[in-house]
Amino acid sequence: MSTARTFCGTPRAGDAGRTMTVFGWVDRRRDHGGLIFIDLRDHTGTLQVVIDPQTARGLGNAHEVRLEWVLRVDGELRARAPQNVNPKRETGEVELHAAACAVLSAAKTPPFPVNEDSEVEEQLRLRHRYLDLRRPRLQRNLRTRAAFCIELRRALTGLGFVEIETPQMIRATPEGARDYLVPSRLFPGSFYALPQSPQLYKQLCMVAGFDRYFQLAHCMRDEDLRADRQPEFTQLDIEMSFVDEEDVFAALEQVIPAAWNACDFRGSPLPVPFPRVTWKDAMGRYGTDKPDTRFALELTDITATVRHSGFRVFADAVARGAIVKAICVPGGGDLSRADIEGRLTDIARDAKAKGLAHLWKRAGGWEGPIAKFFTAEELDGIGAATGANTGDCVLMVADTPDTVAAALGALRNHLGAARGLYDRDRVDMIWVTEFPMFTRSAETGEVTPAHHPFTMINADDVGKLESDPLAVRSRAYDIVVNGREVGSGSIRITDPDIQRRVFAAIGIDGEAARRKFGFLLEAFEYGVPPHGGWAGGIDRMLMEGLAEENIRDVIAFPKNQQAQEPMTDAPAPVDEAQLRELGLTLPPSRRNESAQPKPPFSERR
Ligand code: AMO
Ligand code: AMP
Repeated sequence: MSTARTFCGTPRAGDAGRTMTVFGWVDRRRDHGGLIFIDLRDHTGTLQVVIDPQTARGLGNAHEVRLEWVLRVDGELRARAPQNVNPKRETGEVELHAAACAVLSAAKTPPFPVNEDSEVEEQLRLRHRYLDLRRPRLQRNLRTRAAFCIELRRALTGLGFVEIETPQMIRATPEGARDYLVPSRLFPGSFYALPQSPQLYKQLCMVAGFDRYFQLAHCMRDEDLRADRQPEFTQLDIEMSFVDEEDVFAALEQVIPAAWNACDFRGSPLPVPFPRVTWKDAMGRYGTDKPDTRFALELTDITATVRHSGFRVFADAVARGAIVKAICVPGGGDLSRADIEGRLTDIARDAKAKGLAHLWKRAGGWEGPIAKFFTAEELDGIGAATGANTGDCVLMVADTPDTVAAALGALRNHLGAARGLYDRDRVDMIWVTEFPMFTRSAETGEVTPAHHPFTMINADDVGKLESDPLAVRSRAYDIVVNGREVGSGSIRITDPDIQRRVFAAIGIDGEAARRKFGFLLEAFEYGVPPHGGWAGGIDRMLMEGLAEENIRDVIAFPKNQQAQEPMTDAPAPVDEAQLRELGLTLPPSRRNESAQPKPPFSERR
């Protein structure tokens, strides 16, 4: 179609009198018996087209045209009569009078409206993703995604970063999730893993002398899905040589705002430098390592104040080693006992707290079922520690530090949102630093790396590697946006002795280390520069930038909650012959399943 094309959203009053050709989908149609009015849509907007079936060539049957048909219209642009101007639309002052019109494709009635941003069941949207993507919101999101990525590339390239593609079929990388595996045909019984991240390859790029690497890296992780987790996602992945934390921070504080601001996310530029909070402070003040710093509602420790109080729940807990912390809800005097003992206590209990105690500060003094157990000094102490004013409510939890943090952290997030304690368009992008090197796995009880085992530890804590590994701080840092982790990184270990001791702390002996990561350790023997880096979830950054609640709305072809792709129906069984070639056999029960053909697409919902 070599015809000069005018995009539907572009004609203005000044173009009246021009002849033009537009292509697009039928967004709306109004059949006035004689004349037919069609709003024709492409990705730039819609244009009203007026068709007189008597005179327009090629469309004698214009009355049959339906929504989502694909048309070509040639005609003359005319100004609308003043009473017909539509001020809500950018092309609202003009309309195209068709001289000729061609149906390029008819369309079935779509399973959901394409011409409006209505709520549609997720499975149906994903089943017909091409129609979902045709809708304005996803058009905007995916186009913004492309722009964001271009700006990231531009900024990184400007800073001397080199874009390098690393392989998609690799040996497993330890990022803590389950691997997706690819069977090898030439080596039956052996498997490639799809990368959970390019971690080891980017470190090898540093050994190779690339100095500054980046990649918009596709990563695959077989983990439980959530609103901000997909099995396939994209990382902005960087690594730098001869750097410390400050250099990595400075680079990202240029790159991320450059792309963010170019996309005009949330209507205001990203404040730089990003504020910093240590992991310890984040846990202490916000009860989480992903603090939403848009509002205060900070946790305060009242253990000392209530240690000897007459409230046995607290006194006994503290005697057993518990701590007691509180948050003060401003204006929380309006929280009823039913609110607190219902929804709010449920949130605390979901975080494994045994209960949630409360006190109201009223004009007449402290009130609440447990107020009578405290002395006036103790109540004053609680008031002073929490900064409670008349009309506020203090919520308190006694437990282990972890449980107190989890319970009050969850309540804090809930109350911040429920009580509108922050401006929804505000964006707080912050660094969380000095993460612990190890955590104890809740499932297995084993010591595991909090980030990954190539993360350098704080020089002051080297002596604790064997004696008190859980107290060792790492040189890892996260970027958190409005309470969501969007990226993680660290300065890496390049000292073989420390690497060996870190492996030992997580139960990987020399032999196992050589077997798993021998190639990396060997590479480090040939001259490794000190290096560090970071990787951020592009999808998650876009969610925050575009204020989307679900990661699927910033990904063109996402998986559903069960990691399926309802449109192509992946994952799907494969032929016996294909399995045989790969040296794979399925247990008989599964074999039947794979032999069962699924119903054809047209019969599926
Ligand atoms: P990490 O495992 O923390 O670090 O991942 C970095 C960032 O990737 C994003 N992300 C995800 N996004 C969507 N769906 C998922 N399933 C998912 N998993 C992770 C998050 C996360 O913050 N190699 C290290 C980085 C480094 O040390 O340089 C790494 O991958 O936004
Ligand atoms: P009880 O004496 O168990 O009826 O508890 C009295 C109040 O203290 C109730 O509001 C409980 O929810 C609360 N409570 C119980 N255990 C704890 C705890 N560990 N921390 C905070 N509040 C608690």
